[in-house]
Amino acid sequence: MNSTDTNGRVVMVSGANRGIGAAVAERLAADGHRLSLGARRLDALATNAPGIDPDRILLNYHEATEEDSARRWVEATVERFGGIDVLVNSAGIVDRTGLEALDERVLDEMWEVNVKGPLRLTRLALPYLRQSGSGRVVNLASMSAKRVKGDALPGYSMTKYALLALSHAIRQVGWGDGIRVTAMCPGPVATDMMDPDDETITQPGDLADLVSTVIGLPNTASVSELLITCRLEAWA
Ligand SMILES: NC(=O)c1ccc[n+]([C@@H]2O[C@H](COP(=O)([O-])OP(=O)(O)OC[C@H]3O[C@@H](n4cnc5c(N)ncnc54)[C@H](OP(=O)(O)O)[C@@H]3O)[C@@H](O)[C@H]2O)c1
Repeated sequence: MNSTDTNGRVVMVSGANRGIGAAVAERLAADGHRLSLGARRLDALATNAPGIDPDRILLNYHEATEEDSARRWVEATVERFGGIDVLVNSAGIVDRTGLEALDERVLDEMWEVNVKGPLRLTRLALPYLRQSGSGRVVNLASMSAKRVKGDALPGYSMTKYALLALSHAIRQVGWGDGIRVTAMCPGPVATDMMDPDDETITQPGDLADLVSTVIGLPNTASVSELLITCRLEAWA
């Protein structure tokens, strides 16, 4: 496979109604891919996907904490497009409580959305990614999957380290069937999660460009982790 063969691939994007997921959806639609977008608010999804050709897009209800909604989404995608080539896991939540005050229920919710959500979608999509022969999984991890900075994001960071581990586990299990996995590890990005108007931090469109690039690479050029930073780190 070379990069030009990748246009028109079937791509699932979670958290596609806003932020990074929406930017990825817009960019991949412009690349000519067929999109199966997941969000728990379909009205927001429809509003944010106005420029996309309706014949090349499927809008799906997806609540990351519900296995059934993941199953229905995967089934609907295969029914409509005949397979799945790429899964982009962007849905995620953050909590900024320090370690001593961190509520376990909040930690459980982050675990559900940030780790088990991508795990569920990946396991359900795996047979189709295998059939593709050049399946791709892109997980929106974080720089918080690579280092802990002060006491700002302990629970979030725990879930993002786990998502990074999941990314490597998928890599191991899918490699022989041509599946390549990329864990994107950005620092602050200008979305609702940080500040959508902050032009001094990484823009969602920049990440969308990177997703477009990594899913277009051949099986012989796998990028397992991509560190993206707008601020000098000691090591990145
Ligand atoms: N922004 C950053 O600085 C940054 C940095 C590094 C990594 N990331 C990661 O990048 C990913 C995207 O973040 P973002 O900046 O685009 O955040 P965002 O603008 O807050 O968007 C989060 C997305 O996740 C969806 N979501 C949240 N809980 C969900 C659930 N239970 N079921 C289904 N969807 C759910 C939201 O849907 P609703 O609209 O329904 O809430 C929304 O579409 C996340 O995994 C985040 O951890 C972000």
